[in-house]
Amino acid sequence: MPGRPKILVTQKVPQPAYPPLEEVGDVEANMQEDLVWSYDELLQRAPGHDYIFSLLTDTIDARLLEACITSTPRLKLVANMAVGYNNIDVNAATRLGIAVTNTPGVLSETTADLAFGLLLATARRIPEADRYLRAGKFTQWGPLLLCGADVHHATLGIIGAGRIGKMMAKRASGFDMKVLYSNRHRLPSAEEAEYSMTYVPLDDLLRQADFVSIHTPYTPETHHLIGTRELQMMKPSAVLINTARGPIVDEQALVAALQAGTIAGAGLDVFEHEPVVTPELLRMEQVVLLPHIGSASLKTRTLMATMASENIVAHARGLRPPHVVNPEVLNR
Ligand code: DGY
Repeated sequence: MPGRPKILVTQKVPQPAYPPLEEVGDVEANMQEDLVWSYDELLQRAPGHDYIFSLLTDTIDARLLEACITSTPRLKLVANMAVGYNNIDVNAATRLGIAVTNTPGVLSETTADLAFGLLLATARRIPEADRYLRAGKFTQWGPLLLCGADVHHATLGIIGAGRIGKMMAKRASGFDMKVLYSNRHRLPSAEEAEYSMTYVPLDDLLRQADFVSIHTPYTPETHHLIGTRELQMMKPSAVLINTARGPIVDEQALVAALQAGTIAGAGLDVFEHEPVVTPELLRMEQVVLLPHIGSASLKTRTLMATMASENIVAHARGLRPPHVVNPEVLNR
């Protein structure tokens, strides 16, 4: 039908996301499960749409955005189905008058559950123990068999005290952990008290923590926030957990630190060159590796998908989308 907005959905997402989009526009959707369009394919398909419903695997850079504003219709909004939006050049979008939205809040608890699970799995060597048993090596119980580190009463250092960082602190309190945090801005004292978190500069956190868990967004400022210098400050018994974004950690420096015993282990849900994982990591027993599943519960992914749809639907109806990350575009 002419005049209806054109909406591109780049990957197969939970079903409830589609009907609201179909009500307001004509939807072109990639319905092939597990098929991520290449950059070139996206560049070919995206122009001529009013809205793009994107995922973190889609690189929406200045070149692509420019191609989408010289076409008819002109791109108005990119709705990313993620809280992070480092896959989108937001500065270019803002310059070109394109709104960008994300899905904050709904995934915080689910991601913190996974981060805490990864912490437990790494500390207590759970995947390694599972592999040991399946390999037929469990022939007798032993007093030193697969001993790991205690999580209860240990010190957790949280880097980034946003929604997910705070939910991580809440889980840690159930394990009687001492929780330190570092953040761009210190939290109000009422929030520090609510989550039993103590503010310390990053270097102090690295020196004191038994577990360091990263929950900061990926920006130019947080690129390689954890590198050789930072890893050397950590305790030799410490474990690094990353469920945020891979390039926050210098993966080569991490491999070197693990090989040298500078730190004891790592639990990683994200990688610097995702989905490629540095091969040395695959061979390390003291490392637990997951395929970026922080928010992967069906309920949460459905909430994220419907939230991304709501952002598009609101704009298509002439309303303000609820989760715009560059609101200055709408204020023009
Ligand atoms: C996000 O939302 O940014 C996660 O990495 C994917 O759920």
